[in-house]
Amino acid sequence: MSTLSDNRLHADPEIERFEPSARVDRALQTAEQAKRATTIYERSVPGRRAFTPPAAGVPERPLDELLPARLRRAEGPKLPEIAEPEIVRHYVRLSTRNFHLDEGFYPLGSCTMKHNPKLHERVAALPGYARLHPLSDPRRAQGALQLMHDLQGALAEIAGLPHVSLQPSAGSHGELLGVLLTRAYHEDRGQHRTKVLTPDTAHGTNPATVTMAGYEVVKVETAPDGGVDIDDLRAKADEDVACLMLTNPNTLGVFDRNISEIASIVHGVGATLYYDGANLNAVVGVSRPGDMGFDIVHFNLHKTFTQPHGGGGPGSGPIAVSDRMEPYLPRPQVVRRDDGSYDLDHDRPKSIGRLRGFQGNFGTFVRSYAYIRSLGAEGLKEMSETAVLNANYLLALLKRRGVAEYLPVAYDRLCMHEFVLSGAPAKRQLGVKTLDIAKRLLDHGVHPPTVYFPLLVDEALLVEPTETETKETLDHFADVVAALLEEAKRDPDIARNAPYTTPVRRLDEAGAAKRPVIRQPL
Ligand SMILES: Cc1ncc(COP(=O)(O)O)c(C=O)c1O
Repeated sequence: MSTLSDNRLHADPEIERFEPSARVDRALQTAEQAKRATTIYERSVPGRRAFTPPAAGVPERPLDELLPARLRRAEGPKLPEIAEPEIVRHYVRLSTRNFHLDEGFYPLGSCTMKHNPKLHERVAALPGYARLHPLSDPRRAQGALQLMHDLQGALAEIAGLPHVSLQPSAGSHGELLGVLLTRAYHEDRGQHRTKVLTPDTAHGTNPATVTMAGYEVVKVETAPDGGVDIDDLRAKADEDVACLMLTNPNTLGVFDRNISEIASIVHGVGATLYYDGANLNAVVGVSRPGDMGFDIVHFNLHKTFTQPHGGGGPGSGPIAVSDRMEPYLPRPQVVRRDDGSYDLDHDRPKSIGRLRGFQGNFGTFVRSYAYIRSLGAEGLKEMSETAVLNANYLLALLKRRGVAEYLPVAYDRLCMHEFVLSGAPAKRQLGVKTLDIAKRLLDHGVHPPTVYFPLLVDEALLVEPTETETKETLDHFADVVAALLEEAKRDPDIARNAPYTTPVRRLDEAGAAKRPVIRQPL
């Protein structure tokens, strides 16, 4: 992110005083790091053009005849004026300044940074999909509607729940839909419930969603084996509880063995059971949330089903629900009529209404559908089995001497597709924090795992290798971790000042969140 000196958004004097680069020894900066990043606007020179269209070849008419003055803007838009080679260089350069999945290992726990097959991009770019207007009459969008209908069917099969809405634009949006459906369900029965339970391992979006939907968040403790503390759940589950939100496997990377008992406690007080599907990559084709007793499931298509993500790009968080939740699903639903045609069904009297404009992020549907169809049922199962195998292989490598003393696994069980290490001993004994380890990994061409999440593990590192990484890559990661701990024993300052080789050195992450430079002064 550029730090523009004349940025008008700098308001907080505390933040103003903070100079992130002061933390980093400037003598260690490369020329590239010392250079301030420029935006496309700063490269603009009046009069430059990338493309000049040929003369239209039709008679010219006065502008007033075509568009009345009151509908015209007084001055032209302030767009960058720049030649094509400079545009290309600008964006290619930008693309190389960020670590991305096509560049190196990206074991960002809970985010499922798996390879995105390039075939999907070709399919999503087919003009019949890419150029389809979202307001097209359903009769002229039969292919797109069929794809959506078939994707709904595949997701229903994977979840073990019969009804699907593709509308939500992210996992957290799916969560919001799930909680709104829960409210509609209870209110339809004349019940006003006030609380939603979330385990203390939950992703931050779970309690945030609950609050946004107007419920009180009640935390449930974690048992020593990493699952839900059943006694605590029993004590807190009462008739005021609308729902329990759970992810299984959870964010500690372990599968909750008590899921049937949890489901019966929750259903016993009339509440719904919500499955946060962010970790579904561990169980596709192996176990189904519907069979475990869940009423509502969200999918992160951008994780499990390979939509590229990570830069805030279009995501997709469809949900699948049981029969009792179906009447409340958003409008319209994609349906197949008796004559075999596909349509949008707006006639849903108990629906909570629309969740967003149009029908969802369509490009994500095409990619995920292509993925599901190209792998098939057996391939999807193998995908999850390999993800779990890779995680256990990597965990076994990291239990070696020289690593496990400083980065022990937080819950020592067979893990699912990810696992959590604690950097607390490394901090105590070597003087390097989890953040330092994460930053030093970048110098080895490896993206750091998720850090400081889940919150209940001190100095947490959440590692998710995914199924598309090779044995060599996993071996390399374990060697790099061992080497950097060895290095920290000799000189902890090396990790403390890392990274050295990236386009920018340590970033002021708090400042970036509190003082985002999001407006370009023109
Ligand atoms: C466990 C868990 N739940 C929910 C979410 C929210 O998903 P999204 O980022 O698509 O909103 C995430 C995202 O990382 C997650 O890891």
